[in-house]
Amino acid sequence: MQVCRTVEECRHVLSNFRQASETIGLVPTMGFLHDGHMALVTEARKRTDRVVTTIFVNPTQFGEASDLDAYPRDEDHDLKMLAAAGVDVVLIPDVSDVYPDGDETIVETTRMANMLHGKVRPGHFRGVTTVVARLFNFTQPDIAVFGEKDYQQLQVIKRMTRDLGFPIEIVGVPIVREADGLAMSSRNVRLTAEDRAASLVLNRSLDAAQAAQTTDPKQLRDIISNVISSEPRAKLHGLDVVQADTLHDITPGYDGPVAIMLSADFGGVLLLDQRVITP
Ligand code: PAJ
Repeated sequence: MQVCRTVEECRHVLSNFRQASETIGLVPTMGFLHDGHMALVTEARKRTDRVVTTIFVNPTQFGEASDLDAYPRDEDHDLKMLAAAGVDVVLIPDVSDVYPDGDETIVETTRMANMLHGKVRPGHFRGVTTVVARLFNFTQPDIAVFGEKDYQQLQVIKRMTRDLGFPIEIVGVPIVREADGLAMSSRNVRLTAEDRAASLVLNRSLDAAQAAQTTDPKQLRDIISNVISSEPRAKLHGLDVVQADTLHDITPGYDGPVAIMLSADFGGVLLLDQRVITP
């Protein structure tokens, strides 16, 4: 596994693969990797000859500098996991390489970035699309793999890729969960034992919604809020039921897949979960 600290070095390694007619899969991350990230690597390995993973804690997607500083990092552990998973190249660029001095270019999906989670985190998705567009240009992959756990992020990236005409297939991977059902996240370690137990209510509420075999948004919302309110430690933060591909509200007559996007606070730790229900 080759570890590149500059974009230039990475471009060079990848161009050798391309010259040998090998296909390239990209897995962008911010590091502190867990099995959820590794599922993306596995998917990329299945689909392409070579896999490049990026580790870059992207400053432009954080609202406050304190959040950015507090973001957990463990590069040695990350590199061990990636090597064991058969990754070919890891790009760990400096901020100045991604955002050169005097940088003034942004990429934004104007509607999707500013709704739902984007409303409570202004500028977040603009930061995501700006960095992902740059990572796409640095690595020029055939496919790029993202998790459905960050469902809005996945849809925003799909839209940006289509709108800007990047010749890259965006692949979504289902949420990887702990054995008891909690969606894997680097935030989970911050939960107290009590909140860790209480957090299972998220997946349970989604199971209940799915079991109801309906795509009616009001019914789905009611089921979820009932289950969540049965857990006093959970504070429901966001609950959106939208058209799965466009994130538009469900209009009468819509009969496609429906995405439930859920977030709740457990003792100051905000957890996300999600489920797509197909009629
Ligand atoms: P990060 O939070 O490190 O996540 C990297 C990728 O792993 C994302 O595509 C995310 O959806 C996926 N992922 C995380 N937990 C998962 C789980 N339990 N199951 C499945 N996939 C999971 O998302 C980002 O970084 C950044 O915004 C990034 C896209 C790298 C741009 O900076």
